[in-house]
Amino acid sequence: MTDIQAEMDVLPGVDPNAPLLQVDDLHVEFRTRDGVAKAVNGASFWVRPGETLAVLGESGCGKSVTAQAIMGILDTPPAVVTGGRVLYRGVDLLKLSERDRRRVRANRIAMIFQDALSALNPVYSVGFQVAELFRKHRGMSRSDSKRRAIGLLDQVRIPGARSRINDYPHQFSGGMRQRVMIAMALALDPELLIADEPTTALDVTVQAQIMSLLAELQRERNMGLMLITHDMGVVADVADRISIMYAGRIVEEAPVYDIYGRPAHPYTKALLESIPRLDRKGSQLNVIGGLPPALTDIPRGCPFHPRCAYARDVCAQDPPPPAYRIGDYRMARCHFIREVLGV
Ligand SMILES: Nc1ncnc2c1ncn2[C@@H]1O[C@H](COP(=O)(O)OP(=O)(O)O)[C@@H](O)[C@H]1O
Ligand code: SF4
Ligand SMILES: [Mg+2]
Repeated sequence: MTDIQAEMDVLPGVDPNAPLLQVDDLHVEFRTRDGVAKAVNGASFWVRPGETLAVLGESGCGKSVTAQAIMGILDTPPAVVTGGRVLYRGVDLLKLSERDRRRVRANRIAMIFQDALSALNPVYSVGFQVAELFRKHRGMSRSDSKRRAIGLLDQVRIPGARSRINDYPHQFSGGMRQRVMIAMALALDPELLIADEPTTALDVTVQAQIMSLLAELQRERNMGLMLITHDMGVVADVADRISIMYAGRIVEEAPVYDIYGRPAHPYTKALLESIPRLDRKGSQLNVIGGLPPALTDIPRGCPFHPRCAYARDVCAQDPPPPAYRIGDYRMARCHFIREVLGV
C-alpha cells in the first residue's frame, strides 16, 4: 500500500454512524514555572455533520487550547492533557499515534486560524501551496493539481483565480489571504472544520463576507463547523448552536435562538448586554465588570461568582451542577437558572 492510499484509508475503528465530534470532559493544563494554569476544565460538547457550533467566550478562557487539543497540535510540554476524550466518529483521538493524528488532520478535521499570513509560506506562490496538497496527499499530477487549485480558489471567490495563482501571500489582502486559508483547509474535503477566530483580524465588512462564505461552504459540503470567537456579534447569523465558555468550562449550551432570546446563564446574559446594538443607539454599552479569573487561580464554587449579578453565598462555596438540563436540548451551569430565566 502506498503512503497516499494509507492516508486516504479510513482509520481503524472509525464508525461512520458515530457522532462526528464529541468532546467529553476534556482537561488541559499548562505546567510552567509560574504555576499550573488550568486552561480547560471539563469541557464537553459535540458537533454534528452539517451544523455550526459556535464556541464563544472572553479572551483567555481556553477556546484555542480546546481546539489545539482536538487537533493534536498542543505544545506538550508545557501543555498536558490531563483527562477526557476527543471522539471522532467513535475513535478517541487522544489515544492515537502521532502518525494517525496527522492522517486525521490531513483528511478529516481541518483548522483555520486568525492569522492567515503567518500560516502561509511567504516564499511559495499561493497556487503552489494549494496545489501541493493535492500532489502530496492525493498523488495528483502537476497539471491536475494546478487545475484543482484554481477551481478551489474560485470556490472561495478569489477574483481572477487563474491569474492570481502565481501571486505570493503578501500580494493578497487580509480577507483574500483568509480565503486562501479556507481553500487550503477544504482542499482534502474534511468532515469537520475548526475555525479559530477566523475574522478577528479583519475589518467589519470583510468579516461578514468571510462568515457568509464559511456558512455557504459548510452547507454545500454538509460539513461540521466549530466556529470559535470572542465576539457575540459575528455568529448570530451563522451558528446553529452556541457553547459559552468560561474559565475552561462550557457554562451554557443551547440553540442560537435560545442563547440570544432567552439566555439561562448570567454570563451569557452579560455577554449579550455587552454587544453594541443599532436599536439602542447612544445607550451605554454594558461591559462585564471585573476580569476573567487567572487560570492559575480559579475561584472555588462557581468561577463566575466574583463578577455575577445573581451571585449568592452558595455560589462562592459550591460549583453549580455540571449539566443542568432545561428540556432536552440545552444546558446551563448555574445554581439560579430559574431566576435568570424569570420562571
Ligand atoms: N503556551 C502557553 N503557556 C502557558 N499557558 C498557556 C499557553 N497557552 C495558553 N495558556 C493558558 O491557557 C489559557 C487559555 O488560552 P487560550 O485557549 O489561548 O484562550 P482563548 O480562549 O483566548 O483562545 C490562557 O489564559 C493561559 O492561561
Ligand atoms: S452559580 Fe451563582 S455565581 Fe455562578 S452564574 Fe449562577 S448565580 Fe452566578
Ligand atoms: Mg484564542
